[in-house]
Amino acid sequence: MGPARETGSARSPTPLRIGVCGLGTVGTGLVSLLTDDASELGRRAGRELRLTRIASRTEKPHLVPYGVNFSTDVMGLVEDPEIDVIVELIGGVEPALSLIRRALELAKPVVTANKEVLAKHGDALFQKSLDAGVALGFEASVGGGIPIIKSLREGLAGDRVTSIVGIVNGTTNFILSRMAEVECSFEAALSEAQQLGFAEAEPAYDVEGTDAAHKIAIMAAISWGVPFDVGRVEAEGISHIGLPDLAFARRLGYAIKHLGVARRVGRHIETRVYPALVHESNLLAQVQGVTNAVELRSDSLGRSLYIGPGAGALPTANAVLSDILDIANGTRPRPIPEGSGLFTGARSSESASAYYLHVQVHDKTGVLARLAEVLAAGGISIDALLQPDIAEREQAHMDEASIVLIAHETTDAKMQETVRLIESFPEVRGKASLIRVYDGD
Ligand code: HSE
Repeated sequence: MGPARETGSARSPTPLRIGVCGLGTVGTGLVSLLTDDASELGRRAGRELRLTRIASRTEKPHLVPYGVNFSTDVMGLVEDPEIDVIVELIGGVEPALSLIRRALELAKPVVTANKEVLAKHGDALFQKSLDAGVALGFEASVGGGIPIIKSLREGLAGDRVTSIVGIVNGTTNFILSRMAEVECSFEAALSEAQQLGFAEAEPAYDVEGTDAAHKIAIMAAISWGVPFDVGRVEAEGISHIGLPDLAFARRLGYAIKHLGVARRVGRHIETRVYPALVHESNLLAQVQGVTNAVELRSDSLGRSLYIGPGAGALPTANAVLSDILDIANGTRPRPIPEGSGLFTGARSSESASAYYLHVQVHDKTGVLARLAEVLAAGGISIDALLQPDIAEREQAHMDEASIVLIAHETTDAKMQETVRLIESFPEVRGKASLIRVYDGD
């Protein structure tokens, strides 16, 4: 016999009346999920999920299903007593922040995909949600369709996470993948990503690491109880990564990936976003296109990997829908851990890494010896060395003579100081390319 179920209650449960603010990519995806198979959703939720009202700052009549109220007044939707749950899919800080705040003041549960608002104002918003006793769902804010928030908050609720390393921005992963695969320029790859609809309105958010920093700030806060504070995430973008670096890295057995990293080191939570060489034997190196992947390490589970579509209409709307279903089912809001006493930030002066270094040089006798000498004087040991010949340079779209090496782990400060010295040599042309090597062990 199966588990007992409640059947045939005298009164059917009241519908959950849903108001959606924002009718962009994710909003449109959610409308289609809520309307395509509404009766199946109602069966799963135990009550009807009724899309009642949509508000978007621009009129989009062709996207509004028959019978659903539409207006351009997003605040009006929040105030509407006929709406039980507010779904915020506008993005950006305002008016999204005011709207979420007001909904929580009215004790209406909220579901949002807004990583920026949470990474900057998460503490105050989750306090409001706790005070009001209503949920603030945010599964879609990180990793698009991958249930990484639920994995961290529920699946690993009793575990101790020690590190989170992920490809959490689909656009930059797409750009790096395309550049490596078809050897196109950074600009061409970016414009292709924009056409696919994954990129942020402001390209710097993707390519300078801001978007990934928002996501790392959120994951750090829910994993370790540190404040939601994107200002503590040091972010480095990918616009300085060129075709030669991608080609030389591949020659050495690595892919270049844009990583978001949060890890516990003693009482400190290190939070950063940076491009890094990832050895091809690591699964993260094989993640292509807009796919996201997050590798967690935790005391009991050990290493676990979560991978899937990191953006896009239906995958992200699916994450939003899972939060709506929790609310429909009456799942109690989970508190965000707080007051762990841990510190967060990049600790640049102390942190250490192995490094990839590419220096363009005049083809003269003794250049390599001079470089090796400076590295040795800085206590930096060479792990691998490549001096590409003409054919290899042509293949890597590189005209100048080059020296490429991988240095064993050293502190960031020591490496940067040594590279500044190298760049001052008359035999060295232009700026060196210095990229971290991710130690996936
Ligand atoms: N611009 C983001 C990305 C969208 O490329 O990953 C999903 O958050």
